[in-house]
Amino acid sequence: MWLFAFFATIGILANTINVTQAKFDYNCNLTAKGSPKFPDSFSFGVSTAAYQIEGAWNEDGKGESIWDDFTHKFPEKMDDRSNGDIAADSYHRFDQDLAALKELKVTHYRFSIAWPRIYPTGDISSKNQKGIDYYNMVINKLIANGIEPLVTIFHYDLPLEIQKIGGFANPLIINMFVTYAIELFENFGDRVKIWNTFNEPFDYCKPGYADANYPPQVNAHGVADYLCMDHSLKAHAAAYRTYKTKYYEKQRGKVGITVSSRFFFSHTNDQEAISRGMQFNLGFLIHPIFSKTGGYPPAMVETINRNSLKEGRVSSRLPKLDGRWRELIKGSSDYLGLNYYTSRYIKRASKPNGENPSWERDYDSDAYPDETWVRGKPDWLYCVPEGLEGILKYIRDHYGNPEVIITENGWSDDGDPEDDDRIHFIKAHMQAVLNAVNDGCNVTGYTVWSLLDNFEWQKGYTHKFGLYALNITSPSRERTPRKSAKYYRRVIETRTLPSIS
Ligand SMILES: *[C@@H]1O[C@H](CO)[C@@H](O)[C@H](O)[C@H]1NC(C)=O
Ligand SMILES: *[C@@H]1O[C@H](CO)[C@@H](O)[C@H](O)[C@H]1NC(C)=O
Repeated sequence: MWLFAFFATIGILANTINVTQAKFDYNCNLTAKGSPKFPDSFSFGVSTAAYQIEGAWNEDGKGESIWDDFTHKFPEKMDDRSNGDIAADSYHRFDQDLAALKELKVTHYRFSIAWPRIYPTGDISSKNQKGIDYYNMVINKLIANGIEPLVTIFHYDLPLEIQKIGGFANPLIINMFVTYAIELFENFGDRVKIWNTFNEPFDYCKPGYADANYPPQVNAHGVADYLCMDHSLKAHAAAYRTYKTKYYEKQRGKVGITVSSRFFFSHTNDQEAISRGMQFNLGFLIHPIFSKTGGYPPAMVETINRNSLKEGRVSSRLPKLDGRWRELIKGSSDYLGLNYYTSRYIKRASKPNGENPSWERDYDSDAYPDETWVRGKPDWLYCVPEGLEGILKYIRDHYGNPEVIITENGWSDDGDPEDDDRIHFIKAHMQAVLNAVNDGCNVTGYTVWSLLDNFEWQKGYTHKFGLYALNITSPSRERTPRKSAKYYRRVIETRTLPSIS
C-alpha cells in the first residue's frame, strides 16, 4: 500500500481548499465507454502483504524484519502505537482468509512472502523449513480452491540483518535477493505462475532512505533514495533473467514488478509539466524496464546531473544506468503491476521545493488536488477514476502496450460496514479499467487493496482498507464482510459493473 504523500504541497493547499470527507454525493464515477463486460480471461482478485496481516513475528524460526525492529523501537511513529506482532494473525488463521476469498469468488489472490520467514537472517545459511511449509500450505489451499496465487517476493519487510550491512544501499542486495528468489522458484515455482519481484520500490526507497518516515530511516535525501531505486531495479532484473534462463522452460510462469503512480492533469494544458510528473513518478521505475531505449527518464537524467554539478559534485546523484545493466534491465518484465490510488494536478514549482538535495528539489513541480474531488480518510487519497484510465492509456502509448495487472486499488475509511463510498470508488475505478480495455489497453487483471483491514504502516489500524472488517480486539480476529464485499462478488459473478443498490 502506498503511503508516502507530498505532505508539503498538500499541507499548504489543504488550508485553501475546502476538503470534505463527507459521503460521496457522488462525484466519484466515470461514464462507460464500449462493452459493459470484462473479457472472459480477465482476472479479479484481492491483495494483502505479509507484515500487514501475518503476525507470528517471532514464531517458528522467523527472523526479525526492519518493520519488527522499527515498530518495537519507535512505537510513537505509529498513529495508534501499534505493530504487526499479531495483526490479522493470518499465520495461524489462513483458513479464515481462505473462507473470505472463496466467498468473494476471486480468481486470484495477491499476497507476499516474508523474506525473514524463509531466510531469518536474510542469508541462505539460515534457511527455515517451517517458513517454506507455511507458504506451501497457503499455495496448495489456494490452488485446491481454484484461486491463482500472485506472489509478491518483497513487500517492505527486509530481514534486519541485511539492513545492518546497508540494506538497499549496498549492491550486495542484488545477489542476496536473487538467492532468495531462487529459493522461492525452487520451492513454489511448480505451482506459482505469476511472480511479482518488488512492491513499489519508490515507496520504500523514498520514506526509508530519503526521509526518516519508514525503516531504515536513513534520511539521505536525493542520494540514498536514488541508490535504493538503482539496486532494486538491478535486483529485479537479475531475478527476472535467472527465472528466464533457469526456470521458465519448466515452470512457464510470468515475472513482473509493481509500480505505484499517480496520473497528472494540468489546468493550463501544460504538457511539459505533465510529462515531467509522469517521468519523475511512473517513469522512474518503469522507463528503465519498458521504454525502447532503457535507462532512467530523460527529465530525471538531465535535471539531476545538472543539479549535482551545480552542487559541486563530480558526478550525478542519480546512478548511471548504462552498458550491461541497462540492457539487462530493459525488457525485464512479462507484465507491469500497477498500484493506483489517486491523481493530482501539476505545474512547475514557483519556488524551490524540499531540502537540498532531494527528489522534491530535483522534481521542481507542485502537485495539488482538484477542489471537486472527493477525499477518503487519508489526506492524500482523492477519488480520481479518470486518472486510472489516463495512466493506462499513457502506459499503452509510451511503453509499448505491455500487459498490465492492476495489483492494488482501494479506498480507506473509518470502517463503516455499509461502505457505500468504497463501493462507488471500486465501481468507478473498475469502469476506468474497462474503458481502457475497450480502448485497446492490455489490462488482464484487477486487484482490490485489501481483502481485509490490516496494519497500515504508520497509520497502524486506524485506516481501514478492507472489503472485510477485521476485529482487531477479538482473540479470534473475526473477518466480517462489508457491503463492498457483496458488491465485488456480484461484479465477479456477472463480469459487469452492476448498479449500486
Ligand atoms: C497482451 O499481453 C499478452 C502478454 O504479453 C500478449 O500475449 C497479448 O498478445 C497482448 N494482447 C494485446 C491485445 O496486445
Ligand atoms: C470484537 O470482539 C470483541 C471481543 O470478542 C467484542 O466484544 C466486540 O463486540 C467485537 N466487535 C465487533 C465490532 O464485532
